[in-house]
Amino acid sequence: MMNRSLIVANWKMHLNVQQASLYVHHFNKVLNYHRSVEVVLAPTLLALQPLSLEVDRRKIHLAAQNAYDKDEGPYTGEVSFTMLSGLVDYAIIGHSERRIYFSESLELIRDKVTAAIRNGIKPILCIGESKPERTAGETKRVIHDQLMSAISNLTAEEVKNVTVAYEPVWAISTFGGENAEPNEIQKVIDYIRYQISELYGAKVSNDVRVLYGGSVDDDSVGGYLALDGCDGTLVGAASLDYQSFASIIDKAFLVYQSKKKD
Ligand code: 13P
Repeated sequence: MMNRSLIVANWKMHLNVQQASLYVHHFNKVLNYHRSVEVVLAPTLLALQPLSLEVDRRKIHLAAQNAYDKDEGPYTGEVSFTMLSGLVDYAIIGHSERRIYFSESLELIRDKVTAAIRNGIKPILCIGESKPERTAGETKRVIHDQLMSAISNLTAEEVKNVTVAYEPVWAISTFGGENAEPNEIQKVIDYIRYQISELYGAKVSNDVRVLYGGSVDDDSVGGYLALDGCDGTLVGAASLDYQSFASIIDKAFLVYQSKKKD
């Protein structure tokens, strides 16, 4: 069976609590519900609590953009996955902005993935090579290292709850936002699935959802969603406009339908 598509809005450090509520108010009016497309919003941490009361959680799921790997303790300023459990279904982990701006290491990201799973939260693990790594022909090595280290504490059953978002750093608007050719993305998606299948078998590899997370908008997204084994997308800037995010969701539904027919 084909995985449901997963379309995630990563608002990053945009939209305060009030703006987030207003967004949801408008978004609810334009959002078409498709059983085959799962919609997730990742707002600022502060907005999670109010939004959890404002969204219909059968139609919209919530994600944290980050959390700490320890469950409780003297870690000033941090929020744990334990504290988020029940509030969010997903957590974005290992985004390149966190790896680069906050120096998150492979080990820390592994521990965060482990902590999310331990607390019943599904990780959306972001992996991707930088421009110099791509130029040096190191894409596969980087993908291998980031993926394998992040899931190394998990059982096969647990790995099924991980979503992998392939986010080439050079394609994210923050770091240049170059247009990625879908052909190039296909090769990496295939490689991600190959790596998972080598370690956990073909069944687990099929169950894991793999998203594309470089820059997309409602025009470009179809080309990525149509790729073999691409189950959705992690949207940055284009998700800040509720209409354009709703169009991306409708596009995902159309692509899902046409893939099902193939
Ligand atoms: P942009 O869509 O703004 O390039 O961001 C992509 C991204 O980082 C999603 O997590």
